[in-house]
Amino acid sequence: MPPVVHAAVSWQNGLAFSEQYQDVYYNSDNGLQETDYVFLQANRLAERWLDYPNASFTIAETGFGTGLNFLLAAKFWLDTAPIKANLHFISAEKHPLSPLDMSKAWQQWPTLKPFSEALIAHYPKAIEQGDVSLFNQRVRLSLLIGDAATAYQSLSQQQPKIAVDAWFLDGFSPAKNPDIWQGSLFQQMALLSNIHTSFATFTSASAVRRQLMAAGFQVNKQAGYAKKREMLYG
Ligand SMILES: C[S@@+](CC[C@H](N)C(=O)[O-])C[C@H]1O[C@@H](n2cnc3c(N)ncnc32)[C@H](O)[C@@H]1O
Repeated sequence: MPPVVHAAVSWQNGLAFSEQYQDVYYNSDNGLQETDYVFLQANRLAERWLDYPNASFTIAETGFGTGLNFLLAAKFWLDTAPIKANLHFISAEKHPLSPLDMSKAWQQWPTLKPFSEALIAHYPKAIEQGDVSLFNQRVRLSLLIGDAATAYQSLSQQQPKIAVDAWFLDGFSPAKNPDIWQGSLFQQMALLSNIHTSFATFTSASAVRRQLMAAGFQVNKQAGYAKKREMLYG
């Protein structure tokens, strides 16, 4: 395996900024509310997890970043899903934050400290071994280090076949990082999805919408979070 190239991060008023992509990791107004609005609500997780009948629910993400989406989804799972069910959260990340930058990013969210401490403690192992269990084994995190399309292509060829229940499409804006928003990624997503699978993303770029539709997804638009006019979900 090639050596891991960590993210080059600078700090702007305590917020992580990517030097590689010249973009922010999350909304500077309120990253917590943005994740809730864009990824948890648009994937309708509240209604799907209430009385959830299956043993496991799988979320797959592009761009783990600071793990904010992961941690809020995990917390919401622990708060709302039936105790017997487990969450599997898969995330592909090309440039993982260094453990030091990860700790620094989480200083910003003191209310989530009990959760972020668990993530920070397991993060080096997740990068090294790809797989960790947290929160009394109720949440499994699989970190796929590398390009998202390539990582999900490997996953779609694995047996037994993985079925993703909800996709979180993150990965910086299509203008700043066009490489991740490619048809090859959306085709792999389709292979890992079924008719009950949902997706959500902060962007409403028409190229993303067209390519998702070409891959077989039903795509809807709604108002975006804060200053973003529109976002996509389906
Ligand atoms: C906006 S940040 C993600 C924020 C993240 N979801 C969070 O909760 O903090 C985008 C992430 O996508 C990663 N990324 C960029 N291009 C990628 C690619 N081709 N494949 C996988 N990850 C990529 C970046 O390194 C960065 O961590």
